[in-house]
Amino acid sequence: MLPVYIYGSPVLRKVAQDITPDFPNLHELIEEMYETMHQSDGIGLAAPQIGKSIRVFVVDGTPLEEDDPTLKNFKKAFINAQIVERFDEMVIYSEGCLSIPNIHEEVERESKVRIKYVDEDFKPHEEVYEGFAARIIQHEYDHLDGILFTDRLSAIRKQLIKGKLNAISKGRFSVDYKYKLVK
Ligand code: NI
Repeated sequence: MLPVYIYGSPVLRKVAQDITPDFPNLHELIEEMYETMHQSDGIGLAAPQIGKSIRVFVVDGTPLEEDDPTLKNFKKAFINAQIVERFDEMVIYSEGCLSIPNIHEEVERESKVRIKYVDEDFKPHEEVYEGFAARIIQHEYDHLDGILFTDRLSAIRKQLIKGKLNAISKGRFSVDYKYKLVK
Protein backbone atom coordinates (compact mmCIF):
# COMPACT_ATOMS: atom_id res chain seq x y z
CA MET A 1 0.00 0.00 0.00
CA LEU A 2 0.97 3.63 -0.48
CA PRO A 3 1.67 5.85 2.53
CA VAL A 4 -1.16 8.18 3.54
CA TYR A 5 -0.06 11.81 3.87
CA ILE A 6 -0.88 13.21 7.27
CA TYR A 7 -2.24 16.58 8.41
CA GLY A 8 0.51 19.17 8.17
CA SER A 9 1.76 17.89 4.81
CA PRO A 10 1.50 20.77 2.29
CA VAL A 11 0.04 18.58 -0.50
CA LEU A 12 -3.20 18.31 1.51
CA ARG A 13 -3.62 22.08 1.19
CA LYS A 14 -3.02 22.43 -2.54
CA VAL A 15 -5.76 22.82 -5.14
CA ALA A 16 -5.38 19.71 -7.28
CA GLN A 17 -5.29 19.73 -11.07
CA ASP A 18 -7.43 17.90 -13.62
CA ILE A 19 -5.75 15.10 -15.51
CA THR A 20 -5.83 14.28 -19.24
CA PRO A 21 -6.52 10.89 -20.86
CA ASP A 22 -2.79 10.40 -21.50
CA PHE A 23 -2.03 10.51 -17.77
CA PRO A 24 0.52 7.72 -17.27
CA ASN A 25 -0.49 4.46 -15.54
CA LEU A 26 -3.87 5.73 -14.39
CA HIS A 27 -5.36 2.25 -13.94
CA GLU A 28 -2.44 1.18 -11.77
CA LEU A 29 -2.71 4.34 -9.71
CA ILE A 30 -6.41 3.74 -9.10
CA GLU A 31 -5.76 0.13 -8.11
CA GLU A 32 -3.12 1.32 -5.65
CA MET A 33 -5.56 3.86 -4.25
CA TYR A 34 -8.20 1.16 -3.69
CA GLU A 35 -5.58 -1.03 -2.05
CA THR A 36 -4.40 1.80 0.22
CA MET A 37 -7.98 2.68 1.17
CA HIS A 38 -8.87 -0.93 1.97
CA GLN A 39 -5.68 -1.59 3.95
CA SER A 40 -6.37 1.45 6.11
CA ASP A 41 -10.10 0.68 6.49
CA GLY A 42 -11.14 3.84 4.69
CA ILE A 43 -14.29 4.27 2.62
CA GLY A 44 -12.85 7.07 0.49
CA LEU A 45 -9.41 8.27 -0.54
CA ALA A 46 -8.39 11.30 -2.57
CA ALA A 47 -5.16 11.52 -4.58
CA PRO A 48 -3.70 14.37 -2.48
CA GLN A 49 -3.79 11.93 0.44
CA ILE A 50 -1.20 9.81 -1.35
CA GLY A 51 0.82 12.89 -2.25
CA LYS A 52 -0.55 13.45 -5.76
CA SER A 53 -2.12 16.80 -6.45
CA ILE A 54 -4.56 15.56 -9.11
CA ARG A 55 -8.36 15.51 -9.20
CA VAL A 56 -8.91 11.82 -8.59
CA PHE A 57 -10.68 10.09 -5.72
CA VAL A 58 -11.94 6.60 -5.04
CA VAL A 59 -14.77 5.42 -2.82
CA ASP A 60 -15.93 2.04 -1.61
CA GLY A 61 -18.97 2.03 0.60
CA THR A 62 -19.97 -1.53 -0.32
CA PRO A 63 -18.87 -3.05 3.03
CA LEU A 64 -21.64 -0.93 4.59
CA GLU A 65 -24.30 -1.49 1.93
CA GLU A 66 -26.37 -3.80 4.11
CA ASP A 67 -26.88 -1.00 6.62
CA ASP A 68 -27.30 1.72 4.04
CA PRO A 69 -28.91 1.07 0.65
CA THR A 70 -27.47 4.34 -0.79
CA LEU A 71 -24.09 2.57 -0.71
CA LYS A 72 -25.13 -0.33 -2.93
CA ASN A 73 -22.47 -0.73 -5.67
CA PHE A 74 -20.88 2.48 -4.42
CA LYS A 75 -17.35 1.55 -5.42
CA LYS A 76 -15.80 3.73 -8.07
CA ALA A 77 -13.20 6.23 -9.12
CA PHE A 78 -14.18 9.84 -9.75
CA ILE A 79 -11.86 11.68 -12.11
CA ASN A 80 -11.95 15.42 -12.84
CA ALA A 81 -15.15 15.58 -10.83
CA GLN A 82 -17.26 18.68 -10.51
CA ILE A 83 -20.06 18.94 -7.99
CA VAL A 84 -22.56 20.96 -9.98
CA GLU A 85 -25.25 21.15 -7.33
CA ARG A 86 -25.57 20.60 -3.57
CA PHE A 87 -29.13 20.57 -2.37
CA ASP A 88 -32.05 19.47 -0.26
CA GLU A 89 -31.44 19.66 3.48
CA MET A 90 -28.44 20.25 5.71
CA VAL A 91 -27.51 17.17 7.72
CA ILE A 92 -25.02 16.59 10.52
CA TYR A 93 -22.87 13.48 10.54
CA SER A 94 -19.70 12.39 12.28
CA GLU A 95 -16.66 12.35 9.96
CA GLY A 96 -13.10 11.19 10.20
CA CYS A 97 -10.21 11.20 7.75
CA LEU A 98 -7.24 8.90 7.19
CA SER A 99 -5.06 12.02 7.01
CA ILE A 100 -6.26 13.26 10.42
CA PRO A 101 -5.83 10.26 12.72
CA ASN A 102 -8.12 9.73 15.71
CA ILE A 103 -10.25 12.82 15.26
CA HIS A 104 -13.97 12.48 14.65
CA GLU A 105 -16.23 15.49 14.54
CA GLU A 106 -19.75 16.25 13.44
CA VAL A 107 -19.87 18.11 10.14
CA GLU A 108 -22.86 19.75 8.52
CA ARG A 109 -23.29 19.27 4.78
CA GLU A 110 -26.02 19.12 2.14
CA SER A 111 -27.86 15.82 1.88
CA LYS A 112 -27.66 15.50 -1.92
CA VAL A 113 -25.18 16.27 -4.67
CA ARG A 114 -25.22 16.23 -8.43
CA ILE A 115 -21.77 15.39 -9.72
CA LYS A 116 -20.16 15.25 -13.17
CA TYR A 117 -17.00 13.22 -13.62
CA VAL A 118 -15.19 10.85 -15.94
CA ASP A 119 -14.40 7.25 -15.06
CA GLU A 120 -11.01 5.60 -15.51
CA ASP A 121 -11.75 5.17 -19.23
CA PHE A 122 -12.59 8.89 -19.45
CA LYS A 123 -16.23 8.14 -20.09
CA PRO A 124 -18.36 11.05 -18.79
CA HIS A 125 -21.06 10.58 -16.15
CA GLU A 126 -23.52 12.81 -14.35
CA GLU A 127 -25.25 11.39 -11.30
CA VAL A 128 -27.15 12.40 -8.17
CA TYR A 129 -26.17 10.90 -4.82
CA GLU A 130 -27.80 11.12 -1.44
CA GLY A 131 -27.29 9.91 2.12
CA PHE A 132 -23.95 8.47 3.12
CA ALA A 133 -22.77 8.35 -0.50
CA ALA A 134 -23.31 12.12 -0.86
CA ARG A 135 -21.44 12.60 2.40
CA ILE A 136 -18.40 10.58 1.26
CA ILE A 137 -18.32 12.38 -2.09
CA GLN A 138 -18.36 15.82 -0.49
CA HIS A 139 -15.60 14.89 1.95
CA GLU A 140 -13.33 13.47 -0.79
CA TYR A 141 -14.13 16.31 -3.18
CA ASP A 142 -13.02 18.81 -0.55
CA HIS A 143 -9.59 17.15 -0.52
CA LEU A 144 -9.19 18.15 -4.19
CA ASP A 145 -9.57 21.77 -3.18
CA GLY A 146 -7.20 21.54 -0.24
CA ILE A 147 -10.08 21.55 2.26
CA LEU A 148 -10.20 19.23 5.27
CA PHE A 149 -13.30 18.35 7.27
CA THR A 150 -11.89 20.15 10.29
CA ASP A 151 -12.08 23.39 8.28
CA ARG A 152 -15.85 23.00 8.28
CA LEU A 153 -16.29 22.94 12.06
CA SER A 154 -17.63 25.78 14.13
CA ALA A 155 -15.13 28.26 15.55
CA ILE A 156 -15.62 26.70 18.98
CA ARG A 157 -15.00 23.13 17.84
CA LYS A 158 -11.95 24.29 15.86
CA GLN A 159 -10.56 25.92 18.97
CA LEU A 160 -11.19 22.75 20.98
CA ILE A 161 -9.28 20.47 18.60
CA LYS A 162 -6.50 22.92 17.74
CA GLY A 163 -4.06 21.29 20.15
CA LYS A 164 -4.77 17.81 18.79
CA LEU A 165 -4.27 18.98 15.20
CA ASN A 166 -1.02 20.65 16.17
CA ALA A 167 0.20 17.46 17.79
CA ILE A 168 -0.67 15.45 14.66
CA SER A 169 1.24 17.88 12.43
CA LYS A 170 4.27 17.39 14.69
CA GLY A 171 4.06 13.61 14.36
CA ARG A 172 2.46 12.89 17.71
CA PHE A 173 -0.17 10.31 16.74
CA SER A 174 -0.35 6.60 16.13
CA VAL A 175 -1.96 4.75 13.24
CA ASP A 176 -1.69 1.17 12.07
CA TYR A 177 -1.26 1.96 8.38
CA LYS A 178 1.66 3.30 6.37
CA TYR A 179 1.84 7.07 6.49
CA LYS A 180 4.00 10.00 5.57
CA LEU A 181 4.26 13.41 7.19
CA VAL A 182 6.04 16.00 5.09
CA LYS A 183 6.97 19.30 6.68
NI1 NI B 1 -10.37 12.67 4.24
